[in-house]
Amino acid sequence: MAANELLRISTLSVSFGGLKAISNVDMTVYEGELVGLIGPNGAGKTTLFNALTGLCRPTSGEIVFSGKNLSKKSAHYISRQGITRTFQNIRLFKSLSALDNLRIACHQNMSYTFLGGILKTKNASRQEEEAEKQAWAMLEIMGLSQYAHERSVNLSYGNQRKLEIARALVTKPRLLLLDEPAAGMNPAETQELLHLIRSLRSDFGVTIILIEHDMNLVMNLCERIFVLDYGVLIAEGSVEEIRSNEQVIQAYLGADV
Ligand SMILES: Nc1ncnc2c1ncn2[C@@H]1O[C@H](COP(=O)(O)OP(=O)(O)O)[C@@H](O)[C@H]1O
Ligand SMILES: [Mg+2]
Repeated sequence: MAANELLRISTLSVSFGGLKAISNVDMTVYEGELVGLIGPNGAGKTTLFNALTGLCRPTSGEIVFSGKNLSKKSAHYISRQGITRTFQNIRLFKSLSALDNLRIACHQNMSYTFLGGILKTKNASRQEEEAEKQAWAMLEIMGLSQYAHERSVNLSYGNQRKLEIARALVTKPRLLLLDEPAAGMNPAETQELLHLIRSLRSDFGVTIILIEHDMNLVMNLCERIFVLDYGVLIAEGSVEEIRSNEQVIQAYLGADV
């Protein structure tokens, strides 16, 4: 395990009215790790991602990423620091092609102005070309080149999920948050995804937190696992430690996993 701390969450809580969706969670993730975040439905997993990406404001506690306190920062600021995510419910521009979905995401990283874009200044054209190149390269990596000009809504469910991951990756994140990427995939697609996630980590050097219901996938892929139950972190440890943890077994008894 790499020793550099990338993300430190301290006593983080998120409440919705009277409901404590996240309750005093402490979590540290190190550079280059691939960690799993599991827990029964409603445990607060997605809410934790929402807090990490600035989509919801923590009620208390701290999020420190690469030495910077992100607790009260906007989603835009956080994404510029290098945290991106995919969504449990796919959020692509449905009527745009796979290529255009990626080109738009590339522009997040670029500096030309709106006016420059309209006037087609040299700088803007050069960046357009660069975005196009990056988008094609990412389609290639994800095995989606043949669908470049297909509207994203027409892709298979598995390919839409891959396109979402591709879209997150073109922003060159340091931390990638995957929210149930295998949901709705068939076993063959899930197996392919497993290999893909593994290679993304090594090829892009990106740190990954994976929320996943498919226990096999999590146990096969992740070195460390965090377990949430009713907003509380009830366990963290290696696959073996989590597998034999009494509290985890209790939390999952009767749950659909
Ligand atoms: N925006 C919201 N407003 C009110 N309650 C919410 C909101 N988002 C999540 N919750 C509640 O917080 C709890 C945790 O939800 P969630 O983070 O989606 O769980 P998980 O992803 O682990 O299934 C649930 O009880 C859910 O109903
Ligand atoms: Mg969720």
